Amino acid sequence: MDAIQRMTLDAAAGWEVVACAAVGALKRRRLCLQYQSKTLENRMTTTKRDITREKLIEALNEDLSREYHAIISYVNYSQVLKGAAYMNIADELAIHAAEELAHALQIANHVDYLGGMPSVTPKPVKTSEKAEDMLRFDLESEKITIAHYRRRVKQAEHLNEYAIAESLRTILMQEQDHLIALATALGIDAPNPGIADE
Ligand SMILES: [Fe+2]
Ligand SMILES: [Fe+2]
Repeated sequence: MDAIQRMTLDAAAGWEVVACAAVGALKRRRLCLQYQSKTLENRMTTTKRDITREKLIEALNEDLSREYHAIISYVNYSQVLKGAAYMNIADELAIHAAEELAHALQIANHVDYLGGMPSVTPKPVKTSEKAEDMLRFDLESEKITIAHYRRRVKQAEHLNEYAIAESLRTILMQEQDHLIALATALGIDAPNPGIADE
């Protein structure tokens, strides 16, 4: 956190102190101050962090590593999933694998366009003998992926890279379809992935 951010935080904290002063009883006032301070820190780190082209390249390379991970897990799980109840979703996972490859190519293209070197390292892939475990691993990965792409769209737009943002939105739509397909196969509601801090 730089000096200006610190000063802004301190100034905002001053107002929070005034607001907390209205809260009765010492213990409750102290809890109020602790809560407000944490909230302010979060606000500063999630909304005021400056994005640069270099940071966007770095972040997109993390996304690319997640895409490689997705390709590997969908290739593996689509073939390993056993049981009549899972045959439909196994076919669906094979389709996801091909879509993840298309995403990886697009993200690599964006990294190259921004002047970076596309990553060659996948995030580690978990394996299991159990069909439900595999689907849950994929669901968790899709949640993380979506949360990061939501942030990435904002960052690309902040840098006026609207074409990249548009491409990320298209990817995001498919990731959300993946999430829904996995949740449906697990018999649960599709979770809300939220938005990543960076
Ligand atoms: Fe993807
Ligand atoms: Fe996906």
